[in-house]
Amino acid sequence: MIALASPFMEFVAREHPALVHLPLGLVVALPIAMLVSFRSRHAHAWKLTATFMAGLAWASSAVALFSGLLWGRQINLIPPGNFLPVVASEKQVLQRMLQLHELTALAGVLVGGVCLAFLVRSLRMESERIDTPTQPGTEPGPRRRSALRRISDRGVGVPAMMLSLLWIGAWGFCGKLGGIMVFGNEETNKAAAEQEAKRKNDVEAELPIRALDYGSLEPVEPGPIRSAAHGNRWRRTWVTASGIDAYKSGKPLPAGAYVVLSTFEDEKGRPGHELGPLYMKETRSDGSTAFAFYWPRVPEGRRTEVGGEETVYWRSPDPKLVVCTGCHEKNGAGQGPAGGVGAKQVAALKH
Ligand code: HEC
Repeated sequence: MIALASPFMEFVAREHPALVHLPLGLVVALPIAMLVSFRSRHAHAWKLTATFMAGLAWASSAVALFSGLLWGRQINLIPPGNFLPVVASEKQVLQRMLQLHELTALAGVLVGGVCLAFLVRSLRMESERIDTPTQPGTEPGPRRRSALRRISDRGVGVPAMMLSLLWIGAWGFCGKLGGIMVFGNEETNKAAAEQEAKRKNDVEAELPIRALDYGSLEPVEPGPIRSAAHGNRWRRTWVTASGIDAYKSGKPLPAGAYVVLSTFEDEKGRPGHELGPLYMKETRSDGSTAFAFYWPRVPEGRRTEVGGEETVYWRSPDPKLVVCTGCHEKNGAGQGPAGGVGAKQVAALKH
């Protein structure tokens, strides 16, 4: 879809909210021109004006429809190749609204088309009447017609007038939905807030933000200690304020608390300058335990240990973390240096 990516198409798509206002404005003013055409003075001029307005509204709505479709596809509300969004569940408020928005827009185009046809017809009938002069000796037409017929014959005619009101109704409703989709209302804002909250809960999809900020937690030891259990690295333990007391006394961490091990690689029996991975263990709000392992720069010689990756970020429920779970659970979900994971479990963790 090269066309979709071009700056012009981008512009057409993004300007949909502006582009719709030409047809919408014309349609709102249309019944006024129509109404004036019912007066006999300048009836012809007003008929022409109304036809021009309706024609322009109808034609310019094609641009608005096209830009709306482009926009919907660009923001992935409308699947590529589709004309309508796919509504899979009741909860997809935006998709449902867009569907109705499109259908009312099309209803407006349909009604508008018929309205325009009536307008053109009234103009044509008028020119025919001028072309065929009344036969001498016969009564002039209008006087013989019923009063009702006379009114409906005047100006652009009553059916066209009614259709123009329907047209406004369809596009007015369509525009209202459009406004809600752009600016939101209670329902969509609630749906958006829910989605936002969901995303927020997953800010760690790419990076273990909390583990990376270990420096803001409570340090357990003043300096690095050798940890045979974690690849023989030198580790320092950091615990959230909410969990530090429990950790120190070897009790399970309260919900929401977590522990991070920051590590250095060993260099001739001392903590080296090479940073090791971050290890994290948390007690989730539902009481379950989750692990994370983040190794931002895997030294080249050790990449085979982690499947050739340069950067490793695993978090529960990643199956690669069974090695953590296995060791920690076997040893009674070790809490803190005092309890749990026995120091005997030192089989060097390869990563
Ligand atoms: C060989 C067993 C073993 C394996 C495998 C292991 N750990 Fe540990 N873990 C321990 C032990 C023992 C401790 C206690 C402190 C220490 O010895 O470093 C501990 C402590 C921790 C701590 C500090 C909180 C606590 O419970 O004491 C974290 C966080 C942690 N491990 C994360 C992990 C992660 C993440 C993995 C997997 C990548 C992992 N561990 C794999 C044995 C293991």
